[in-house]
Parts: sequence; structure tokens; C-alpha cells
Amino acid sequence: MLKSYNIIDHYYDVIVVGAGGSGLRASIGMAEKDLKTACISKVFPTRSHTVAAQGGIGAALGNMGEDDWRWHMYDTVKGSDWLGDQDAIEYLCFNAEKAVIELESYGMPFSRTDEGKIYQRPFGGHLTQNGEGPPAKRACAAADKTGHALLHTLYQQCLKQHVEFFNEYFVLDLLMDDENVCRGVIAWCLEDGTLNRFHAHQTILATGGHGRTYLSSTSAHICTGDGNAMALRSLLPLSDMEFVQFHPTGLYGSGVLITEGARGEGGFLTNSKGDHFMENYAPNAKDLASRDVVSKAITMEINKGKGCGSEKDHVLLHLEHLDSNLIQKRLPGVVENAHSFCRIDVTKEPIPVIPTVHYNMGGIPTNYRTEVLQPTKSNPENVCLGLMAVGEAACVSIHGANRLGTNSLIDLLVFGKAASDTAKEKILPNTNHPVLNNNITDKIIERFDKIRNSNGNLKTGEIRINMQKIMQKNCSVFRNHDLISEGIKKMTEVENSYNDLNVKDKSLIFNTDLVEALELDNLLIQSKVTLHSALDRKESRGAHAREDYSIRDDEKYLKHTLVWVENNNVVLGSRQVNMDTLTNKIKSIPPKTRVY
Ligand code: FUM
Repeated sequence: MLKSYNIIDHYYDVIVVGAGGSGLRASIGMAEKDLKTACISKVFPTRSHTVAAQGGIGAALGNMGEDDWRWHMYDTVKGSDWLGDQDAIEYLCFNAEKAVIELESYGMPFSRTDEGKIYQRPFGGHLTQNGEGPPAKRACAAADKTGHALLHTLYQQCLKQHVEFFNEYFVLDLLMDDENVCRGVIAWCLEDGTLNRFHAHQTILATGGHGRTYLSSTSAHICTGDGNAMALRSLLPLSDMEFVQFHPTGLYGSGVLITEGARGEGGFLTNSKGDHFMENYAPNAKDLASRDVVSKAITMEINKGKGCGSEKDHVLLHLEHLDSNLIQKRLPGVVENAHSFCRIDVTKEPIPVIPTVHYNMGGIPTNYRTEVLQPTKSNPENVCLGLMAVGEAACVSIHGANRLGTNSLIDLLVFGKAASDTAKEKILPNTNHPVLNNNITDKIIERFDKIRNSNGNLKTGEIRINMQKIMQKNCSVFRNHDLISEGIKKMTEVENSYNDLNVKDKSLIFNTDLVEALELDNLLIQSKVTLHSALDRKESRGAHAREDYSIRDDEKYLKHTLVWVENNNVVLGSRQVNMDTLTNKIKSIPPKTRVY
């Protein structure tokens, strides 16, 4: 098998897979610490999905009103519906300010206050005084194009630090040795068709989320959770996959994101009766409640027949009461997107919106040092040697059952840096790379070759849409036993239909047919474990709303779900939530009823 493919070997201290915000921030840190680092990405770095982030980066700078990192921590724990690990949340919130100031020093073009400070706006679920005070202005923003500004800033720093990029390389799988130590990855170069074996002392998965398991998603088409699927194929578990975040305001029809920053600047939602319905669901925070609460409220309004339009299937977001200069200055992307996709002038008409899949709280379990966990019976915190994960691919878990808006951008800065600190600690200078058994490479290439030579009757797009429709219907904002069970049954059929795949283009050069087939394989395994994890959690918590178990059940379910795939079968387990803080700077926050 090996003979029919041209394989090139590369040797690095660290391989970072993915060039979104977390991958780039990790790469900068590695290079600054003189670790020989390569960053591998299936797209050109500045096309990574971080570029689409809009509203802001969460950090309690207090530039525009009183704030405190401890309040940020309180909000994040509450936002997570107490499923977030409090040691990691403390680490995030405590380091947030430093991370934003560092980004500013890298040249990030933040919006500014009149005094020249970083502009900060309110965002859902971020309050002051441990949830008792008014909304916190905590989202550090570059208009509503924060992700774009951030990604370009980090990429420039990578160039300054001479990070080596391997762009348009599709990583196929992890090189796991016989002791289950990760020794690097194998990647297919889309440009010249070669296969490349990257040997590394540490491999960092920064491969993002898997929003494209669903039909309607704010995620780019590249968001196929490739690292998560690689972890599963390496017999590592994923964690908390049932928690899929629906953003309340995806643009009706296209699913394009309309930032929560729009409500942060004073926008509000109404139903077909013109009711400002969030007042009924979240009397204090109203439209600025956390996203799971707002998405559920919109869905309930639609289910009650109070949706807008001829199909009564969406609600309206109003900005037309706001000063049009403010809209142009603070929300230019909203203006553009509403016009491009709906021909709407937001200064005059409301925007039709609908909850749309936006973020995956679940992913590869890690500790706050970003080391991947491979729990054993005797040691639930056991670490998989040679492997780390950051960003949306990882489940640290700081977001628990529901992520607060702005906490993903701060997550990728803080934990991207943490990954580089951990790697520096772990990698001893001048360490040799072990020689790998050829079987490890052969197995990966066999899978690649099999998919490449698929000669069945179904196109990738046909199988993909069947999968996406199931996820959209059977694992949506509200779920129940029957819906999820039906989803599992249908997903098994879709998974089997992959055996009848046809990849028409057999070439190795820019073969997008093959790329999509590989991505679909990755999506299918994640859809499957998401459904099984959702069926197993018989309670409602954060983004996981079970109609048949509508109450949060801390006695039975204050625990992380773990899920493995062994011989194609799903195996479920669990891990304790870490309720202890990291230091004595703050006391742990005990669970209580979550109201906004
Ligand atoms: O609404 C938004 O701008 C999204 C922000 C986020 O997901 O953090």
C-alpha cells in the first residue's frame, strides 16, 4: 500500500492542526518559545471559521462601566448550567484581561471609546454583581467583525514569529503508537497530491467544531470537526457531545449569523403579535438572557403559533428604532448581511431570524492545561501523551452545557497560549523522534485509499443531506426519547449508505470530491455520538432541552458525558464535573436554579 503513495517525512517539536484563532495563538506561543512548530490547515489560515466571529471577546476590562473577572466567572458558571469545570473557568476569566491587552499589543484594530479605550458592549448572559446587577459591558469588539480582525492580527504575528505553515493540507489521522502515544499526523497535500507524515513530540488539535452535521448552521462548510473524528478513530473519547448551541438569531433562510451584539446595542425580538416576548421568559435580562434561554423562547413562540411570515416559522429582530449612525458604526456587518441575503434595510425594517446551530460545547476532553484526557477506571484524569486540544475542538470544559457569547474568542486566546506553555514544559530539548512501525501509517492510508476508490451509487452530497436533515429534526432545540431514538435508527441507515459512496474523481490534486467524502466520514461519526449522548442524558440542562425530562437533575446528571466508538459501536461513560476552583482567589460557585 505504502508503495503506491509518495510519502514525505517531516520532523517538528510541535504540530498544530488548524489555523483558526486557537491554532494561530498556540503557534505564536510555540514559536516564541523556540519550539520548532508547523501549523497545518486545510484552508488558507485567514479563511478559517474564526474569521466569521462577530460580536466580541469576553474580558472584564471595565472600560465602560464597573466589572470584575470574578463576575465574569460567576456568569460563565451559571451560563454553563453548572456543567463547566470551575478550575478551567477560573483560569479563563482570570487570564482574560491579559490576553486581550496582549492582542491589542499585537495590533488588533479594536473599536474605541471617545477616550481611546477598547470599546465594550453588553452580551447575553453577562451581568454585573454575580448576576444581580445590570448587564456588563464586557464584549471587546472591532465593530461586528471582531473575528476577522482577530484572525488577521494573529496570522501576522505568526508570520513575524516565522511559524511554518502547511496550507491546504488535509490531515487524515493521528499517528498513535502501540503505547497509545500520539506521534504526529498524516496529511494529504491538496496541491501536489503527496502524503505527508508529520512527526511531532506534541500534536495540538485546533480543528474547530462540527456545525455542519446540521442542515442550518452559522458555521462555514469547513466546520466538519475533523480532529474530533480523528480522536474517536484513535479510540479516544469525546465529551458532552449532546450540547449543541443554537444561536437565537440566524438570518431566516440562509442561517447567516446576525450577531448578539445587535441586541447588545439595543435590538429586541418580537413575535407575530408584536409582543416583546423575552420579557416573559427572562424578566430581568430580557433579550440579553443567555442564548439557550433565548433560542428556547423563540422556538416556544413559534410552536405556539406566534411565529411570523406566511409559514409562521420565524421571529423579528428590531434595530430600526436605533440611531442609524450607531448602526452603521457598530453593526456594519449586520447591515451588509441583512441586505445581501434578505434585501432588508435594517434602519427601516425588522430582520427575520430563527435559532440556528452555532457552536459545539462538546469535543475532545482536556484539562485546563489543554492536555487531552484519556480516562481510565482508576484515573479519570489520565492524560493521553503527545496530544493536546484547544478551541472549539476541545471540551475543557469551560462552556459546560451552554457557552456565553464572546467566551469562544477569549477561550481560544487564553487556552491557545496555555497550550504553548504546556508544550514548552513537556518537550525536552534535542529529543529524537522514535521510528514508527509501518503498520500505523498503512492503516491510515488504507482508509484513505478505500474512500478514494469508492465506486458505489451515492454522491457525497446525497448522503450528507440525509445526515443533516436527521440532525436538524431529531436533535434540535427540543428533543425527546422518541425523536432521538428515531434519529439513531435513521442515522444507522445513513451511515450504512456510506458503503455505497461514489467518489468520481480519483485524482490526488485538488480533489474536492474526495475532501468532501473524507469530511462526511468525519461528520457521520460525530452525528452518531451526538445522538447517543443526547439519548443518554435524561434531564434538561443548558442547550440540551428534553421535553420528556424537563428539569435539571443534579443528583444523577451533574457529570460530563464521555463517548467512545469501538468496532463501530457507541460506548458511553462519564466523568465528574470539577466544582473546585483552581486557587483560593475565588470560592467555588454551588449549583442553584438558573433564572435570568
Ligand atoms: O453573536 C455573536 O456575535 C456571536 C458571538 C459568539 O458566538 O461568541
